[in-house]
Amino acid sequence: MATFDFHHSMLTDEVRTSSFLRAIMEVVEPGDVVVDIGSGTGVLSLFAAMAGASRVYAIEREPVIEIASEIAARNGLSETIAFIAGSSLEVDIPEQADVLITETIGNAGFDEGIVAWVADARRRFLKHDALVVPGRVDAVASLICVPTDFMAIDKWSRPLQTLDFTPLSRIVRNNLIWTDLSPAAIVSEPVVVFGTDFSSEPKWLTGSVRVEAIKDALVHGIGMWFRSSLAPNTQITNAPPNTVPSWEQGFLPLDEPMVVAAGDQIRFEVSSAASGAEWRWQVGSGRTHITSDGQLSMRKVEEAVK
Ligand SMILES: C[S@@+](CC[C@H](N)C(=O)[O-])C[C@H]1O[C@@H](n2cnc3c(N)ncnc32)[C@H](O)[C@@H]1O
Repeated sequence: MATFDFHHSMLTDEVRTSSFLRAIMEVVEPGDVVVDIGSGTGVLSLFAAMAGASRVYAIEREPVIEIASEIAARNGLSETIAFIAGSSLEVDIPEQADVLITETIGNAGFDEGIVAWVADARRRFLKHDALVVPGRVDAVASLICVPTDFMAIDKWSRPLQTLDFTPLSRIVRNNLIWTDLSPAAIVSEPVVVFGTDFSSEPKWLTGSVRVEAIKDALVHGIGMWFRSSLAPNTQITNAPPNTVPSWEQGFLPLDEPMVVAAGDQIRFEVSSAASGAEWRWQVGSGRTHITSDGQLSMRKVEEAVK
């Protein structure tokens, strides 16, 4: 049975939801036409209507949209908000909007496809000078020491029932993994690896940085999170220690832990496709990990066991 726990926990995430409320009050002007991509329960569309929007188009691909119009009616705002079921890539709206709102920021910033959704909306839904909430998203990265997370993926590299299952190990190491990073896990000063203000339509976001280890440690991979300027006066981040329970952080693992000493300089590269579905990373002269190598398909399993 659907309990809508996912939506309840987002609504009760005080920092997340009040930050979006503040940003919407900053950006939406009375009379604006607004489009909300990924409207869920419709909460941000309700905020836009409260800010004075004359019309809000709330687009959502999950079944929660079926009840969202009743929620709008309960709050006396059903006249203003039109709910549209489907992926934003596959639906239309009947007029051009002044403001786009989308809370499709992922744990690592770009993994929920926000760049692709906004690029498509700019082409089809928005006036040329439309504003976007969030106005900017940056992906922040650091080398991290996370032995427990690493053990969870390393388990396939050890024999089980005296048999060798290591082909699965290769697959799980090509994943962007969710974790809850403590500040103690951070091995290098966090740096922005890439970001966007959504004014262009990049196919990939890519960054190459050189960082300095701040302590002697074993590095298990790269930690990823976001910081976002939702509006000029409203910022939000899921940097560790995390204050926004709607988000965790990302972990891009290495094949083997790397020993570093305080002061060591290490170069790493990270890329995310606009769709958020594919990630690539490389630390030092190690191999390039590609998440599509980690998606299990029969063809890949057959290759893996050859
Ligand atoms: C993180 S939730 C946010 C929900 C709501 N806006 C809120 O703030 O509570 C993101 C929602 O976006 C929806 N979504 C993501 N991408 C979408 C797209 N391209 N088109 C329609 N819905 C999308 C998901 O199904 C999910 O319900």
